[in-house]
Amino acid sequence: MSSWSEEGPLDLSAMGITQVPRHVAVIMDGNGRWATHRGLPRVMGHKAGADAVRRVLRTAYRLGVSHLTLYAFSEQNWGRPQEEVTRLMELLLHHIRSEQVELMERGIRFQGMGSLERLPPEILAELRDFEARSSSNADMTLTLALSYGGREEMVRAARQLAEEVAAGRLRPEDINEERFKQHLYLPALPDPDLLIRTSGELRVSNFLLWQIAYAELYITETLWPDFGEEEFAEAVRQYGRRDRRFGLTR
Ligand code: IPE
Ligand code: IPE
Ligand code: MG
Repeated sequence: MSSWSEEGPLDLSAMGITQVPRHVAVIMDGNGRWATHRGLPRVMGHKAGADAVRRVLRTAYRLGVSHLTLYAFSEQNWGRPQEEVTRLMELLLHHIRSEQVELMERGIRFQGMGSLERLPPEILAELRDFEARSSSNADMTLTLALSYGGREEMVRAARQLAEEVAAGRLRPEDINEERFKQHLYLPALPDPDLLIRTSGELRVSNFLLWQIAYAELYITETLWPDFGEEEFAEAVRQYGRRDRRFGLTR
């Protein structure tokens, strides 16, 4: 991979970008179809998808996006054939290991989000170790949603709140949005400003259900392994033209 710092920051005004979202979340979909269209096994699509992750991370970094959250594996994806799940886990472990040096050099903080305890112990250990080592990096935060489900996240939050009420530490009337948010997996993560979904499906597939309440959506037919710098920049360009009203008048 070429050095990011040599490439330097991008010239936003020359690119027609008027506003950079603070947090971009991506549903990286279409790996399987990308492979099938080429007569390849699905895992080859996941491998090609990993290259797209690198391109998007680099572009987000150069544009000055401070939080990038990638949906890599959902709670529901555990239900896929064992062979595919195993290959996905192998790929994940490989990339968490191989990207660490580069991410540390760039000052990128890494964190996992989801029911991570369901991950194979070797992956969980690697992930926790990298989270700890990168925790003081402040240039950008990369969050991988792994074994993640938005409904599962909210049920977990509701259960924790119920336990506090049952223990007499919390009154039901004191439950508000802010307190609920404190029980999500990563309370400090700002809500996404822009949500990108590739492969043309018009759904959110259980991703960040609480956090995307006011995210701007960018949905493209492009399959994830074909998604790159230019289209990421296009999504950000379109984001800059949106009129975010948050339910208010203007
Ligand atoms: C996204 O690609 C990656 C994961 C969900 C792990 P898919 O594997 O869902 O690819 P399609 O949607 O079947 O093409
Ligand atoms: C969403 O894609 C999950 C990830 C990208 C990790 P899916 O392929 O699992 O979602 P559906 O089945 O199209 O809703
Ligand atoms: Mg899919």
